[in-house]
Amino acid sequence: MCGIVGYIGKRQATGFLLDGLSKLEYRGYDSAGIAILEKDGPRVEKCMGRLDALRKKIEGRVPTGTVGIGHTRWATHGRPSDHNAHPHTDPTGKFVVVHNGIVENYLSLKEDMLAHGEQFSSETDTEVLAHLFANYYKGNMEDAVHRVLKTIRGSYSLAFMCAAEPDKIICTKKDNPLVVGLGKDENYIASDIPAIISSTRDTYIMNDGEIAIVTADGVKLTDLKGNPITKEIFKVNWNAEAAEKGGFEHFMLKEIYEQPKSIRDTMRGRVNGKTGKLNFTELNWNKDFLKDIHKIFIVACGTAYHAGIVGKCYIEQLAGIPVEVDIASEFRYRNPIVDKHTLTIVISQSGETSDTLAALREAKRLGSHTLGVTNVVGSAVGREADQVVYTYAGPEIAVASTKAYTTQLLVMLMLAIYMGNLKENLDSALSEDLVKGIVEIPELIHRQVESVDQIKVFARKYGSAEDAFFLGRGLDYAVALEGALKLKEISYIHAEAYAAGELKHGTLALIVQRVPVIVIATQEDIYDKTLSNIQEVKARDASVIAIGYEGDEKLAKYADHVIYIPRTGKYLAPLLSVLPLQLLAYYAALTRGCDVDKPRNLAKSVTVE
Ligand code: F6R
Repeated sequence: MCGIVGYIGKRQATGFLLDGLSKLEYRGYDSAGIAILEKDGPRVEKCMGRLDALRKKIEGRVPTGTVGIGHTRWATHGRPSDHNAHPHTDPTGKFVVVHNGIVENYLSLKEDMLAHGEQFSSETDTEVLAHLFANYYKGNMEDAVHRVLKTIRGSYSLAFMCAAEPDKIICTKKDNPLVVGLGKDENYIASDIPAIISSTRDTYIMNDGEIAIVTADGVKLTDLKGNPITKEIFKVNWNAEAAEKGGFEHFMLKEIYEQPKSIRDTMRGRVNGKTGKLNFTELNWNKDFLKDIHKIFIVACGTAYHAGIVGKCYIEQLAGIPVEVDIASEFRYRNPIVDKHTLTIVISQSGETSDTLAALREAKRLGSHTLGVTNVVGSAVGREADQVVYTYAGPEIAVASTKAYTTQLLVMLMLAIYMGNLKENLDSALSEDLVKGIVEIPELIHRQVESVDQIKVFARKYGSAEDAFFLGRGLDYAVALEGALKLKEISYIHAEAYAAGELKHGTLALIVQRVPVIVIATQEDIYDKTLSNIQEVKARDASVIAIGYEGDEKLAKYADHVIYIPRTGKYLAPLLSVLPLQLLAYYAALTRGCDVDKPRNLAKSVTVE
């Protein structure tokens, strides 16, 4: 959470920083600020609220200078306010810092400083860093930064700037993402590539413990002791357009519509629709490797966790290996029984989620083999897991995850087929059918997302509801969990997902007249049971919207409304049944006037615990 950006070169920095921050607002949007090195020192402009509030604040008095750093905040220490907004400075205003992360020992440092008479103007942990930076500065900015890093504990990506050395920005990171962009006669820093992609595709993806001394002419990289290091330039393989809305009203809608492409990109090179064969060249596992794996853990947060629940069904049923799915923030502290006979799969769109990373490290520490499934090449999960399988969803900007989720489902299905084949647990005809079915999915998704009119009507009809319930059994239940999360996070309608058979064990008490109940009914082996559950809620006068296969006339007799999806197999159904749920959440949020891409209190990429 929080986005940082920096510019040094010949252009006016303010424009670059504001543009960069607009691309990073998904990381946090409760305040924004910039600091520009003007002739007589740094000028800081910051305020609470969205970036537009900052733009207004500086209208007609834009800071001028060719070096600057900026920040968009998701509050951790100190509520959103003008004072708590970044950048932060020391009391002289000459030393400036922007920070993404948490300084764990800031309180004791602050107490020391207060005891020495130092004054603070914010409640943030970051202000302590600016004080330290100033206190440690003895004529060499690099030395001061080294000392700051030795003093603090926690997680961070940081950028430092000071009046005495106006020709450089120094940045570094630990457990939070940071990229350095390489331009001609100018260079950039950012929390994420979209902020700099319109200027360069050449980047250094910074690792923990690396420091970049960024000037207009070049970038010097060192370790924490100041020893020079070399690093490969990472060339970004997508362009600025991919990080723009491209004519859609919101990123979320654009990303929903991008799913045929992201699914196609994720299967490319892995499945062959003609032969029905599938491979993961990046894994190179064999039968012996899997024989040694007695159990699989899937660990993730939020939407990625929901993809993990689907993954469990896939792996257990197709590969015959027992799977436990864990919420990362629980796994890391619950002393899981993990050893060298376990495979831990962590799923993370961003590859930077703090709890997921900690869980990955814990699994490694306990001797598990680890596999990362992530969307971001060069992310911490990508670097730290023993092996990595990338989803190729492209940049996901909306806070509510959509296309990343379906690519995660696809990867989990492909992994299950891959493992099932290696273990000779999977019937070869089923394996071929599944692979051929996968190849058809992008076209089916395309068809599905094009038929939205009915969903818009439901969104208007039920958009004023206070509560909603999502029901399903088996894989349908796993998808119901994701549907409920989508609805609550962007429309703020209270939504809960239940295994359809569980409702009567308490929750049925909440089913009253006209409460919307969304029932997913694609799993044919348990279809009749789901129909009975529809009757149970109908008997309490709920309004049932069912999601089922085209041609399922029976469903229409039981439910108030049916959203049809193209008929497909049991395992592929989640890739289609989630689409109406994503769209329903989107249009319900619009109906209620919510800010779809930037929901209340949330931010993408949760890099704090
Ligand atoms: C919800 C959503 C979050 C993320 C979660 C994990 O729409 O996006 O629940 O799925 O914060 O994020 P990643 O996948 O980046 O680890």
